[in-house]
Amino acid sequence: MEDRLVSGSAEMEEVYEEQSLRPQTLKQYIGQDKVKHNLEIFIEAARQREETLDHVLLYGPPGLGKTTLAAVIANEMGVQLRTTAGPAIERPGDLAAVLTALEPGDVLFIDEIHRLPRSIEEVLYPAMEDYCLDIVIGKGPSARSVRLDLPPFTLIGATTRAGSLSAPLRDRFGVLSRLEYYSEEQLKEVVMRTADIFQTEIAPEGAAEIARRSRGTPRIANRLLKRVRDYAQVRGDGIITHGIADEALELLQVDRMGLDHIDHKLLKAIIERFRGGPVGIETIAASIGEEAVTIEDVYEPYLLQIGFLQRTPRGRIVSDLVYRHFQMEVPTE
Ligand SMILES: Nc1ncnc2c1ncn2[C@@H]1O[C@H](COP(=O)(O)OP(=O)(O)OP(=O)(O)O)[C@@H](O)[C@H]1O
Ligand SMILES: [Mg+2]
Repeated sequence: MEDRLVSGSAEMEEVYEEQSLRPQTLKQYIGQDKVKHNLEIFIEAARQREETLDHVLLYGPPGLGKTTLAAVIANEMGVQLRTTAGPAIERPGDLAAVLTALEPGDVLFIDEIHRLPRSIEEVLYPAMEDYCLDIVIGKGPSARSVRLDLPPFTLIGATTRAGSLSAPLRDRFGVLSRLEYYSEEQLKEVVMRTADIFQTEIAPEGAAEIARRSRGTPRIANRLLKRVRDYAQVRGDGIITHGIADEALELLQVDRMGLDHIDHKLLKAIIERFRGGPVGIETIAASIGEEAVTIEDVYEPYLLQIGFLQRTPRGRIVSDLVYRHFQMEVPTE
């Protein structure tokens, strides 16, 4: 799969860069008001009782701020954040090592928690419920199980696929928070905030244009801002005006809805080869030479979100919005 400017997933070099752009407090964390208000109350209550916060599951598409929010929660609770990820924990011993290193009240963040092997989930259950760990020592008939006490801690799990989490694991989270795509107004705030950190001058209309093309995703907004900033510096006087943002994004082939050539290819294939659908996902995949899972996991979600594509039992259909977007005639019948 090629790198896309409008992909929600982080690129290699972004992983480090993003650290400096992350908001530290709930107040600085833009949008997600419902999630934020709930957390504010739970955090306040836990602090008043001097208890740990309930375990929190954060889910939603890539780049919406799950990792950021986990760090914000630890910061607001005034505790340490320990980070690991589902794929990094291969054996029960790996998890035991992480858990026994926790200090009372710590937040343990497990990214991509849906990728934890089932055998390890089972180690996690008593840890989450009773703050203890059952480990088996030795092998065969002489094997015995010992119970270790753990300090009270808060587990924060993040996943882009809440559906692939096992039910028993999901049920052990006290707080389930679904992150939503951001509004243009909220993304504009993200862009203005990041420009401020970069010490780049930006007009509100310039920020709005970047926001409009960022697919509801702060990570994409920040990425587009960086590219537009380069363009402003080389082709303009460094200031990001509306005109500069527009020109730069046009050049980068990110259209007014934040769609790129891959979205265009997909939508046009359905229109031109299948009369707008309904057409099965496997058929589309074969027709544009992509894997069906890639289409489902990567290309489709945003197109479904903005109503450009519809999923029906008989296959995918493009909506009238797509014809208008491409300035094509909307078919009658
Ligand atoms: N609410 C927000 N306010 C301001 N900036 C944000 C917000 N949410 C995310 N960002 C910015 O977007 C970037 C990506 O966010 P983050 O890494 O938390 O996403 P994620 O949901 O963990 O993504 P992934 O699924 O790939 O792990 C961060 O570097 C941060 O700068
Ligand atoms: Mg993350």
